[in-house]
Amino acid sequence: MENLSAILYLVAAVLFILALKGLSSPTSAIQGNRYGMLGMLIAVVTTFLIMDKPVLALIAGAIVAGGAIGAWKAKTVEMTGMPELVAAMHSLVGLSAVLIAVAAIFHSGVEHTGVQKIELFIGAFIGAITFTASVVAYGKLSGKFGAKAVNFGGQHLLNLVLALAMVGFGVLYFLSDSHAAFLMMVAIALVLGVTLIIPIGGADMPVVVSMLNSYSGWAAAGIGFTLNNPVLIIAGACVGSSGAILSYIMCKAMNRSIVSVLLGGFGAEVASGGAAASGPKNYKSGSAEDAAFLMGNADSVIIVPGYGLAVSRAQHALQEFAELLHEKGVNVRYAIHPVAGRMPGHMNVLLAEAEVPYERVQEMEEINSDFANTDVVLVIGANDVVNPAAQKDKSSPIYGMPILEAHKARTVIVVKRSMSVGYAGLDNELFYMDKTMMVFGDAKKVVEDLVKGGGH
Ligand code: TAP
Repeated sequence: MENLSAILYLVAAVLFILALKGLSSPTSAIQGNRYGMLGMLIAVVTTFLIMDKPVLALIAGAIVAGGAIGAWKAKTVEMTGMPELVAAMHSLVGLSAVLIAVAAIFHSGVEHTGVQKIELFIGAFIGAITFTASVVAYGKLSGKFGAKAVNFGGQHLLNLVLALAMVGFGVLYFLSDSHAAFLMMVAIALVLGVTLIIPIGGADMPVVVSMLNSYSGWAAAGIGFTLNNPVLIIAGACVGSSGAILSYIMCKAMNRSIVSVLLGGFGAEVASGGAAASGPKNYKSGSAEDAAFLMGNADSVIIVPGYGLAVSRAQHALQEFAELLHEKGVNVRYAIHPVAGRMPGHMNVLLAEAEVPYERVQEMEEINSDFANTDVVLVIGANDVVNPAAQKDKSSPIYGMPILEAHKARTVIVVKRSMSVGYAGLDNELFYMDKTMMVFGDAKKVVEDLVKGGGH
């Protein structure tokens, strides 16, 4: 049985790796998901088979209840609500790591070796930080807590003191086997999870989500050692390392340093600068008809989609409009910012759903130099990702974040419902430029009107 379970676990692990590989491209993502599901099925069944005293009713009950909630959530969640759902799930991974570690400590009659104690310590503290940090991230992303950064003097010092105290209690547990020391270590890690995340503002949340993804993986791997379960170690390590790579990519996309992300509060130094508009400013607004006319008479149009496109589900109508322009001989392309929307790849998925041809979708690095030679840019439901303050205003919280250089085009059309701010809470100079025309309204309604206008 032992050999068979080892082989089955190996198969599951290979399937997890194939799943990750599949998920790296939109065309192979569905197949990747299938590999992942099959791997998980094999892993769960194998674990059942090798359990000593299976408390089957309890575990089956938990699987049915958890599976039902998961299936219902997956069916009902809006694409725009995915990041907070992911954050909520990470919190559960963290919490289960903590509970398993505490159960293992309090399991009477079990002596833990030095190595096992270190594994328990690592699994529990990463799990505890992941748990509370994910709850705060969930609150921020879902708008239940304010998305603004919470900053106070001595914040980094406090985090350092907490981290040292946490390690101190961990060492005490290691040396004395004291349960109280272990629980103190967990309690401090729970607090640290909160204090690490509160200084991080809305615009930086994407990096936080992928970082928590990584943490939850490492917590699971740590607990895999405690439970002596190789597939949990492998799956945890896959999640941990892919999350870390994703965090690195996101940091590069947002021009942030990974080290300061890991230490928390990395946006704090530039705090609230540039947030508010200084007094009333002038802007021009026009109708969808005006916009259709401008684009219909252009040689080149670049469309910049953002979060607003996703919430109003305007992608199908937009593709229809782009097709009309294309038929008229206008060179139409889509420019994708790596963090447009509310999660990495969000816009690519939406556009693929609307069957936008791949060759018309271009990433930021490819297309940024073309804006200056483009007749019209249509910014639709995007804001922070085209905010020139990221290049020009050193006091802005998004200073340094790469942007799509829409402001360089000859004419800019911005579709949104009002002059209000985007996710990072910042005003946007692009809206007030002489060459910019605002078209107010729900993205879907405006695009449907554009289609009626037909780009004539
Ligand atoms: P945002 O900066 O959030 O701007 C979206 C704009 O869409 C808003 O200004 C809003 O203006 C408009 N809007 C909302 N609903 C609309 C509707 N139904 N119809 C038309 N317009 C609508 O979005 P973005 O430019 O895509 O930037 C993404 C931001 O989110 C970045 O700051 C990024 O860092 C952050 N973020 C990203 C992620 C990931 S992982 N990518 C995760 C969390 C946060 P009105 O209210 O005036 O309509």
